Amino acid sequence: MSKILEDIKLLKKYHTNLVYDYTEYPTKAHWDENFGEKDYKSSLVKWLSENPKKKILFYVHTPFCEQLCYFCLCSKLITQDYEKVKSYLYDYLFKEIDMLKTLLEKNKLTLNVNEIYFGGGSPTYYKEEEFKNLVKKLKELFDFKNIGDFSVEIDPRRVNEDKLLFYNEVGVNRLSFGIQDFDINVQKEINRIQEPEIVSKLLTKKVRETFNAINFDLLIGLPAQNVGSIERTVEEVVKLKPTQIQTMYMHYKPQTRKYMIKMLRNVQLPDFYDRKAIFSKASEELIKSGYERAGFESYALPDDILAESMSKGEAYYASLGTQKGEVTNFIAVGSSAHGCLGDDYYFQNFYEQNLYREALDRNEFPIYRGMKLSKDDKIRQNLVKTVRTYFKISYDQFNAKYDIDFKNYFSKELKILSIFEKDGLLSLNSDSIDLTPVGQHFSPQIATVFDKYNKLELDLGLESIGLAS
Ligand SMILES: C[S@@+](CC[C@H](N)C(=O)[O-])C[C@H]1O[C@@H](n2cnc3c(N)ncnc32)[C@H](O)[C@@H]1O
Ligand code: SF4
Repeated sequence: MSKILEDIKLLKKYHTNLVYDYTEYPTKAHWDENFGEKDYKSSLVKWLSENPKKKILFYVHTPFCEQLCYFCLCSKLITQDYEKVKSYLYDYLFKEIDMLKTLLEKNKLTLNVNEIYFGGGSPTYYKEEEFKNLVKKLKELFDFKNIGDFSVEIDPRRVNEDKLLFYNEVGVNRLSFGIQDFDINVQKEINRIQEPEIVSKLLTKKVRETFNAINFDLLIGLPAQNVGSIERTVEEVVKLKPTQIQTMYMHYKPQTRKYMIKMLRNVQLPDFYDRKAIFSKASEELIKSGYERAGFESYALPDDILAESMSKGEAYYASLGTQKGEVTNFIAVGSSAHGCLGDDYYFQNFYEQNLYREALDRNEFPIYRGMKLSKDDKIRQNLVKTVRTYFKISYDQFNAKYDIDFKNYFSKELKILSIFEKDGLLSLNSDSIDLTPVGQHFSPQIATVFDKYNKLELDLGLESIGLAS
């Protein structure tokens, strides 16, 4: 049994709902709604002028799916009406891309795009013609000659081998499959029936030879999931040999997604103890089967580029899963899409279709909120990402990069961490913080100690070390 499960008291003490996963810091709720389209345009122009050669990941959001999965937190609409999907693409997304093109041309700027990522919702909703036209449209915006990874999120229920091979003909070379869980009881509870055979039939010899990276998304904490079921799911997954795997904890937010409550109609969700047990089992089985851990919730085969970038110290944790570190700048189009320019700016489009469309109808970028990061934000952002990816902080790295004295700068945080140290979650060394294997399970909580915007909701007895709780 995994060590984490041996101490229920420790688990209870440090358990909090995993609200902040730190794919962004400061977390989105703290981005400024007064940061509007004018700020977006001026920061984009300024940043691109100052960083003309920096590589960019270009993200495109497609907010449509054919059927609702009850666990889903992504920004999407469920529709059977393909005309709606076409209208979004041709009347609005294309307009947003055109406006970006005009802004760049006016300022004699270009985008050095190195990666493309189509996410959703379900980009697989597009028929070949629309998909092809979207790629063609992007070619008007930037040069494709430097493109490394071109990823598409795949709903395996909506594609066949021909469609996957078509994606490659237009440039796609990485596929990210939404798997979630292969257990039929779990699938019934989440309203997503998807037998392993659907996926094995797609991963033909030709498809495997064509795509050098294949990712599977699994979710931990689904209804009817347990240690036995995850073991069987991982067994199926390993047989299918994806090169990368994400095992993400399911975030449960019925306050904003009422339908999530439907997952409870027949069974309870696994509690915090079960979630750790399921996560640990998945992790154990994946590592036993030859996968290497690549950050908090990611795994990769040893010869996969992600495992290589982990060992080189270049990987980092982000909203699209652990990234191999080549590109840290995201420009994003589509409703709800968010981007960042280095560690300087964040920005995000409107979630709501009406607000997204109305802004574009007014010839304005549909910016909902954004943020310019201060030096302190940047230091803390780097820190929480490093904790989440490598489970270790070397003070010298931060001292050199930001010209600070780490121990002095973070004296209060280090004092709080001394409680974590006493409980065996980490060790505070003379030049580093090292999370123990048990402490790695609590890396979000440890990251929250360094978060200036969100309070750590734990009863740690801070008064005993002279700090107010
Ligand atoms: C847009 S979906 C994947 C593509 C496609 N729509 C599909 O479902 O196959 C992106 C991923 O977000 C993750 N996701 C969705 N809801 C989540 C939640 N409540 N908590 C954590 N991750 C979630 C899932 O792992 C999912 O594979
Ligand atoms: S998980 Fe994928 S297919 Fe299911 S509702 Fe969410 S975005 Fe759509």
